[in-house]
Amino acid sequence: MQKLIIKGKKDLSGKISISGSKNATLPILAASILANNVKIKNVPLVKDILTMIELLNFIGLKTKLSKKKNIIEISNLDKNINTLAPYKLVKTMRAGVLVLGSLLAKYGKAKVSLPGGCAIGTRPVDLHLFALKKLGAKIKIKNGYIIAEAKNGLKGAKIKFPSISVGATENALIAAFKAKGKTILKNCAIEPEIKDLISFLKKLGAKINFNGRTIIIKESKVKNSKIIHKVIFDRIELGTYMIAGALLAKKKLFIDKIDPKLVKSEIDVLKKIGVKLIIKKTSIIVKKGGGLKRINIITKPYPHFPTDLQAQLMVLLTQAKGESKIKENIFENRFMHVPELKRMGARIEIKNKTAFIKGPTKLTGAEVMATDLRASVSLVLAGLIAENKTIINRIYHLDRGYEFLERKLKNCKAEIKRI
Ligand code: EPZ
Repeated sequence: MQKLIIKGKKDLSGKISISGSKNATLPILAASILANNVKIKNVPLVKDILTMIELLNFIGLKTKLSKKKNIIEISNLDKNINTLAPYKLVKTMRAGVLVLGSLLAKYGKAKVSLPGGCAIGTRPVDLHLFALKKLGAKIKIKNGYIIAEAKNGLKGAKIKFPSISVGATENALIAAFKAKGKTILKNCAIEPEIKDLISFLKKLGAKINFNGRTIIIKESKVKNSKIIHKVIFDRIELGTYMIAGALLAKKKLFIDKIDPKLVKSEIDVLKKIGVKLIIKKTSIIVKKGGGLKRINIITKPYPHFPTDLQAQLMVLLTQAKGESKIKENIFENRFMHVPELKRMGARIEIKNKTAFIKGPTKLTGAEVMATDLRASVSLVLAGLIAENKTIINRIYHLDRGYEFLERKLKNCKAEIKRI
């Protein structure tokens, strides 16, 4: 089991380039099943992407990944297609369930393992199945698998999601591509990653209109020309490094290859806390604030403050003066990082889905354990500001979603190494 060793309290300064978005790449890879020939650029080399590529290979697509250029080429020759997403691949990467929509749309059948829960909650797929049934799919659950069929193809429908779900919106969007007639999706998630999926699907020939939380998709034909798409930057990685800069960049941390318009709520929150930010067209300069001020936050779907940055913000708030509150409104169990942060001296109490964080508090290094992707990066942030040495175990969680984390931090003078 690999570990990270961090020596804390080193000033961060220098430049960090943000990688492509894992959460935009995953649905685009799933949607590639519909296509004949695609080339996707700016793909982050993280574990979840490699697992999704393995799943596409298992289904029968041809994939070629160029690691040094972050490019993947996928062709679907429609030969020996296996409309199955096995447990062994979906259990480690919940986004495997996203192939359900494209397998149904293209082949009229799919057998996809239920993703099961994970550290941050049970994470059901009822909203995915609700939408696919509305499109005419016959669905049954057997031995932990979703068995879906649409013998005569899918039929357009009016679908209003009872609650907002990124994955369910993506599955419905992809499934509706070839559904007869017109499909109207209401109360959709509108994350930038969904907009990136829509721009990919439009290149594929999809007729899609998007206004507010309503998406209209008309029955479309897949273009068989080669599709080239560059994935948007990872806004959660950006938020993570902005918080690292807010904690440790006495001089300045220059973060580029981004679009600040997609992280408005994060910028507003950091400014309210007193972090110094200089916003440019494709980059942001962060400086450690003077005295950081407390704040109250509730995590909500886009365009509000994202749940994927909640753990990272909590570390920043341990350094803010006074008592801050973070209400985790999206997942039922996304405070797994709290006991670990408390072992490093953080003063945090949890009362029904709200964390109360007192600061400023001096953190001290400790041996800690990562539990999920974003919790693990909050332990890295805590290790960077803590006295002495922090050892982080189970860093495979980190490798699921952060490309070259140590290298990027080392280039900015952090003392961090993997053993
Ligand atoms: C996506 O997960 C992201 N993953 C998550 O990022 C992110 O935290 C989440 O959206 C919320 O923004 C990817 O894009 C690959 P949801 P997803 O469906 O689609 C409940 C990361 O760190 N729900 O929007 O699984 C669900 O339990 C990951 O990169 C149902 O009840 O999230 C949760 O409480 C973690 N039924 C809430 O809705 C369903 O059918 C939001 O889930 C689906 C979801």
